[in-house]
Amino acid sequence: MADPLKTVSVKELTPGMTIREINELSFDYATLDPKTVQFLKTNFKGATAVVINDAGRESVPMENLQAFDHLDSIANIPDTLKIASVVPGLARSMEKYGFLEFRVTTPAGKAAQPEQAVQAEMAAPEIIAVSSKQAHEARVEEVKDFLGKIEGAEASRDKSSSLVEEMLDQGRAGKFTAKGAGAAVEEILEQGASSAMNAVAGLKGSDQTYTHCVDMSVIFQEAYADILRHNGKEVTSEINRFTLISGFMHDIGKSEVPKEILESTVRFAPDSKEMLMLRNHTTYGARILNDLGMSKATINVAHYHHVKKDSTLFTSYPDISYDKVLPLTRLASVVDVYQALIGKRKYKRNWVPGKATEYLIKLRGSEFEHRMLDYFIRAVGKYPLGSLLRLSNNSLGFVVHIAPAEDPEKPVVVVVENGQGELLTHHQLIDLMMEPDVTVVEVVDHYEYYNESEDQAYNIFRSITLG
Ligand SMILES: [Fe+2]
Ligand SMILES: [Fe+2]
Repeated sequence: MADPLKTVSVKELTPGMTIREINELSFDYATLDPKTVQFLKTNFKGATAVVINDAGRESVPMENLQAFDHLDSIANIPDTLKIASVVPGLARSMEKYGFLEFRVTTPAGKAAQPEQAVQAEMAAPEIIAVSSKQAHEARVEEVKDFLGKIEGAEASRDKSSSLVEEMLDQGRAGKFTAKGAGAAVEEILEQGASSAMNAVAGLKGSDQTYTHCVDMSVIFQEAYADILRHNGKEVTSEINRFTLISGFMHDIGKSEVPKEILESTVRFAPDSKEMLMLRNHTTYGARILNDLGMSKATINVAHYHHVKKDSTLFTSYPDISYDKVLPLTRLASVVDVYQALIGKRKYKRNWVPGKATEYLIKLRGSEFEHRMLDYFIRAVGKYPLGSLLRLSNNSLGFVVHIAPAEDPEKPVVVVVENGQGELLTHHQLIDLMMEPDVTVVEVVDHYEYYNESEDQAYNIFRSITLG
């Protein structure tokens, strides 16, 4: 007779055990790409996939698993499957695939099985055959190109912010057009300036509604493009144009809120008429965009970007079911809050991006859908562009590149201050993926650390020169 189910870690798997369930999976399984879905369907035929969706945990037959699903665990693993029988060498494979904790049975008296190969069809990550020196040089060129766009990005951001302000003013005067937003979007697309604008947003903060719309839309565009790429889809300029416009327009309903309320530095009481007017910007926005003949998805973003996953929260409005909120809008709501944190808004100072991501992760599942939050963090990185990091060798560096496909915890940084606290004039690029000995110790609040002026950190960033 078999023993009852026992929980073991991957290190404790012992030949002779039979795996019945997999409890804990690495982060890779939170956002299923088509290849991983195929791997799971092949190796876990007949098992049950436990996925997390908005209603909570749901058990589905493995053959019904789909790309984009959020896999929590695997249950009812048939003992006829090769992968169910622990044989020598299986634990190593399991660890490699990111299976971390198991529920197993140990049949009494059953001898260890001879070694069998796991039917693994998940391709090992492709390793491109380039020398590390070549890879480093290519990265330096890429980062130089990115840094070269910073100044132009700052100008585009200022110009776009003025266009958003004009658009809202026109709306107030009853002659609304989307021409200004269209022109701003074309300029950003033409310059390929989104990443650089994203970095400027993290380094300079912002102090007004208009810049919020611009920063939100470039971060939104980059995050959405990353999700598409991650799921094997092509990112066309049409798609980028669409997400940028949807971002620019998400708060367009604020054109019906009096300017003195919008720009007030007073925090309004939750039940005040001012707060009610502010909250109505979503309904106003949906109506304006509908009148302009914008797409349903763009309207959905404007209408529902403040609906939280837990719609009973006070911060959730309007009062509708979360089912009506498109995945695109769910992503927009994460970006909206992220930008509100990194931008200086009325009664609070700006947060640095790395602290904002930490905060958002805490709201996973309550304010935000798990899947969208995971996607967002993957796209912007745990340490987004422009973050100042303390490294394990005590130096300080700015994040200049993140590689979502690799490791969100290991960005590419440029060291600006050595371990003795001296500002460097000669800068060096470090790819943390390539330097296993150097790790991130903490996110440094660059507004606090470089506090001679509000733009000191930004100015240091702009002065980076790579030899
Ligand atoms: Fe809003
Ligand atoms: Fe917003």
